Amino acid sequence: MLLPKMVPVWLSAFTLLLLTRDPVSTSEIMACGASVDPPANIEITDPGFLGYLSIHWTQPASLQNLTGCTVRYQLRYYDTYDERWRSVRTVKLTYAAQFDLEKPVTVKMLTMLKCACTNETEVQGKETERVYIPEPAGMAGSRIRDFHCVYYGKEYMECTWEPGPVPPPNSQHYLYYWHMEMEETKECPEYIILSEVRRGCRIPRESLLEFSKFNMCVNGSSPAGSLRTAYFSIEVQNHVKPAVVSSVQISEIDGLLKLDWSPPSGLVPEQCLEYELESSTLMANGKEQKQRKTLVNLGLDTSYDLLREAESKKTCFQVRSKVNMYCADGGFWSDWSQTKCTEENGTQYGTTWNHLSLVGLVVIGIAGVILLCLSLWILKKICIKKTSKKDAIYTLYKQKVNETMPTILSPIFK
Ligand SMILES: *[C@@H]1O[C@H](CO)[C@@H](O)[C@H](O)[C@H]1NC(C)=O
Ligand SMILES: *[C@@H]1O[C@H](CO)[C@@H](O)[C@H](O)[C@H]1NC(C)=O
Ligand SMILES: *[C@@H]1O[C@H](CO)[C@@H](O)[C@H](O)[C@H]1NC(C)=O
Repeated sequence: MLLPKMVPVWLSAFTLLLLTRDPVSTSEIMACGASVDPPANIEITDPGFLGYLSIHWTQPASLQNLTGCTVRYQLRYYDTYDERWRSVRTVKLTYAAQFDLEKPVTVKMLTMLKCACTNETEVQGKETERVYIPEPAGMAGSRIRDFHCVYYGKEYMECTWEPGPVPPPNSQHYLYYWHMEMEETKECPEYIILSEVRRGCRIPRESLLEFSKFNMCVNGSSPAGSLRTAYFSIEVQNHVKPAVVSSVQISEIDGLLKLDWSPPSGLVPEQCLEYELESSTLMANGKEQKQRKTLVNLGLDTSYDLLREAESKKTCFQVRSKVNMYCADGGFWSDWSQTKCTEENGTQYGTTWNHLSLVGLVVIGIAGVILLCLSLWILKKICIKKTSKKDAIYTLYKQKVNETMPTILSPIFK
């Protein structure tokens, strides 16, 4: 798997820079008349896989002539990503592990011997330490900051960054990536460009490998010189952000609220999801109650039932999702779905005066006034009609009188 042909030029100095820190000891550990020395010729080489280094050693000369023995080696190294020592025991003469090339690389080794003459118990030799402090290349202050990767719906991953605090003018960034199934590093297939500057990289699903180290580096060049390289190693399955949960529906039957939704689109398997509901209930007294509930029933049940609270007027829901603990050690919550609310509940549950019934009162009041005005207007119309009728009768009567009465009497009837 490891290809030594790709050791970069600067690495020729790499192995020379290794510091040996043998613990000072006066007495050697002996077994079967031989000294149990630490492994010899320990070398750390960089095949150019962005921190996936390979460690080689040979059997100590002191054990060369022993027969009928099992020789094992214990290798301890400081995992700078997890900030703890890791330990392996192997009969092989090589081991590969992930290191952060921005930090010192520390490896401790010892030999373990088990023979008939050691009464079949394993004798541990003394430990030796190798430290390599990588020389930081590139201009100080030019290293990128705030590097974040989000694997959207397991469809593509976006890694973004901010330029360093002191970016040289006209600098150009490059992202390279590598995983176990690649023979060599590859450059970012699609840069994310903001105001004509590279600020991220989009990597399609086909180029990613889950449950394995996914290494990246962001370096750069500028007319003033190269930028300081930043190294990252992640496991992509821990960076998933599902899409927004869609089609949230609420139905209500006899005071039971039933909430349904569809799993988010994308390639996250349904059994890998968990959901969180947020409800906000408007109570009859005008107060709002907020609640959150996480549902980890392997993501297959996309519904939730709850009783409507007796004093509630209206309840609104939002749903979001995340990859659950059965499928990854971490992940990001999706954005919240659209808010869906129950039908507004009228005075059915309202026993106390509140804003809404006050509004109702005002509406009723206005309606009353309008009704009053209307009736007054109608009444007035009727009165006018009556008086005009009276006038008509009088004119008719006067005519009749004028026709039948002698003109001498007419002044009386004027
Ligand atoms: C192993 O054996 C060879 C030849 O028999 C001898 O030259 C050599 O010194 C021995 N090595 C040790 C460590 O005893
Ligand atoms: C070897 O082991 C046997 C039994 O397991 C024990 O009796 C004996 O004393 C041991 N010898 C040494 C040298 O440790
Ligand atoms: C950036 O890193 C890659 C991978 O190690 C390397 O091939 C490339 O030459 C580097 N570019 C610069 C400008 O340092």
